[in-house]
Amino acid sequence: MNDLSGKTALITGAAGGIGLEIAKHMAVAGANVAIADLNLDGAQKAAQEIGDKAMAVAMDVTNEVQVNQGVADVVAKFGTVDVLVSNAGIQIISPIESYAYSDWKKMLAIHLDGAFLTTKACLPHMYANGGGSVIYMGSAHSHEASPLKSAYVTAKHGLLGLSRTLAKEGGKKNVRSYVVCPGFVKTPLVEKQIPEQAKELGISEEEVVSRVMLGNTVDGIFTTVDDVARMCTYLAAFPTAALTGQSFLLSHGWSMK
Ligand SMILES: NC(=O)c1ccc[n+]([C@@H]2O[C@H](COP(=O)([O-])OP(=O)(O)OC[C@H]3O[C@@H](n4cnc5c(N)ncnc54)[C@H](O)[C@@H]3O)[C@@H](O)[C@H]2O)c1
Repeated sequence: MNDLSGKTALITGAAGGIGLEIAKHMAVAGANVAIADLNLDGAQKAAQEIGDKAMAVAMDVTNEVQVNQGVADVVAKFGTVDVLVSNAGIQIISPIESYAYSDWKKMLAIHLDGAFLTTKACLPHMYANGGGSVIYMGSAHSHEASPLKSAYVTAKHGLLGLSRTLAKEGGKKNVRSYVVCPGFVKTPLVEKQIPEQAKELGISEEEVVSRVMLGNTVDGIFTTVDDVARMCTYLAAFPTAALTGQSFLLSHGWSMK
């Protein structure tokens, strides 16, 4: 089960949070892991922690030159890329009427351009090597909407379209595509939002957590980085195309599709 021996996984935004846990799980499953991030120091520390099978890659996923160079470096070290986890992401919250256009463009660039550019760079290697898997980090917000998150919800819904198209295009060449959709996970991305949402919504930070973030879960518990990393590793190791094109919610019952 979940054997990734001999495979190489490139995970973006893996210096911390969800991406780092995915890198650790995939390394335990036997993969070589490339930890790509804006934060090179963080990526290097993560790679050191994981050991010989890990490398750090400096990459802004919105920069085509850096993405292509980063993928080339991974292929030079490990031979190919079998698994791409397009995970890098940020959050900027604001009501639509005051959402800065520059922030909107930044959000779509990181989540959508980043997914496109990394996919485009990895696919020729997957096709040449007989196949691969691409996992996009969606969100419960790939299926649900919340106030203040117009750009995030738009981008995370958009990933479903990219993933389904890749599933159709890549099918005959043994490339599979998935969207993993976590509920709230307590990473820096979410910690930052708690006071911001409290201010925008005029409620306490405790209420943001208990009502806004966890109010619709079955157990009042955050989704964990372990929940998400297990799912990604399972999908990366899944042996057939049975699941390709699907999205997978991990939200402790918040969203069910
Ligand atoms: N935390 C949650 O509740 C939650 C829920 C659903 C989905 N997600 C998604 O999971 C992914 C990871 O989020 P997280 O919670 O681990 O966040 P995080 O802030 O802990 O980590 C994000 C990482 O992405 C990196 N990054 C940011 N911009 C980048 C860029 N342009 N190029 C390369 N790297 C970049 C950061 O340096 C950081 O290491 C994101 O796509 C996020 O939308 C998070």
